[in-house]
Amino acid sequence: MTPELMEEGARRLAAKEAAPKTGNTESGGRQAGFSRIHTPGEVDITHGRILYLEDVHVSFDGFKAINGLSLDIAPGELRCIIGPNGAGKTTMMDIITGKTRPNTGKVFFGSTIDLLRHNEPEIAQLGIGRKFQKPTVFEKLSVFENLELALKMNKSVKSSMLFKLDSAQSDKLAEMLTTIHLADSVTRQAGNLSHGQKQWLEIGMLLMQDPKLLLLDEPVAGMTDEETARTAELFLTLKGKHSLMVVEHDMSFIKTISEIVTVLCDGSVLAQGTLDQVQADERVIEVYLGR
Ligand SMILES: Nc1ncnc2c1ncn2[C@@H]1O[C@H](COP(=O)(O)OP(=O)(O)OP(=O)(O)O)[C@@H](O)[C@H]1O
Ligand SMILES: [Mg+2]
Repeated sequence: MTPELMEEGARRLAAKEAAPKTGNTESGGRQAGFSRIHTPGEVDITHGRILYLEDVHVSFDGFKAINGLSLDIAPGELRCIIGPNGAGKTTMMDIITGKTRPNTGKVFFGSTIDLLRHNEPEIAQLGIGRKFQKPTVFEKLSVFENLELALKMNKSVKSSMLFKLDSAQSDKLAEMLTTIHLADSVTRQAGNLSHGQKQWLEIGMLLMQDPKLLLLDEPVAGMTDEETARTAELFLTLKGKHSLMVVEHDMSFIKTISEIVTVLCDGSVLAQGTLDQVQADERVIEVYLGR
């Protein structure tokens, strides 16, 4: 570019700045009418939903495991999902996390991210964490090392080789140890923890990665009553900071943590409301709770 051209450009820019604002733009007089700025890849929750499923269908060899499932979850909500064995609860989580592809239907994270266009690792990267029923911690590593590893998993391979905790991350790790009731077990080998403690450690590992939505499939199965009560406390502290979807059969646990309960049956929503409301629903009593 020549100095003349640069000067000319500068003059035109200055003239544009000085010109009175008419409200007309160069693109035909229309003002850009966006009410918000949305960054691609970020979850857009301006419509009040972090998760949105519409008319989802999945068949396995002709068997309709998910059959017209529609539901949505608000940001910060702790949604409980109950329903009989085979209702499709785990399959629904498989769909949200990209493990199973539906035959038809919509699955959105926020209002702009179409999860059906992403694979499992991408969906995890977008901020959806999942806890399977069986604890999956690194048994040979200490509690601390497991949490540290979870932090590293957020980084690229190259940076994780050079990874060293900075002070903010150390604080976060210390806070997490308290949150998951393992502050007294920092150096213990994960393999020596109780079943409940392993579950908490895995939840802590998921939380270290700052998920926006956390899916938990039967998190208190196999826990002692005391562990179950502590898990309920933990989930109540997570509510609001994260959005949670919890599948459980343990009704006393659901009673402690629930706001809205969704009842799944035969692959779709049978009922939804407070626990009292769904427990009083004849159809729910018929298929799930028993008389
Ligand atoms: N990969 C698969 N292939 C064939 N059938 C499947 C597959 N995955 C799930 N199913 C079937 O779909 C139905 C729903 O199963 P799913 O595991 O989602 O139920 P669930 O509500 O999680 O039950 P539970 O409370 O027992 O965990 C079941 O009948 C199951 O056998
Ligand atoms: Mg299941």
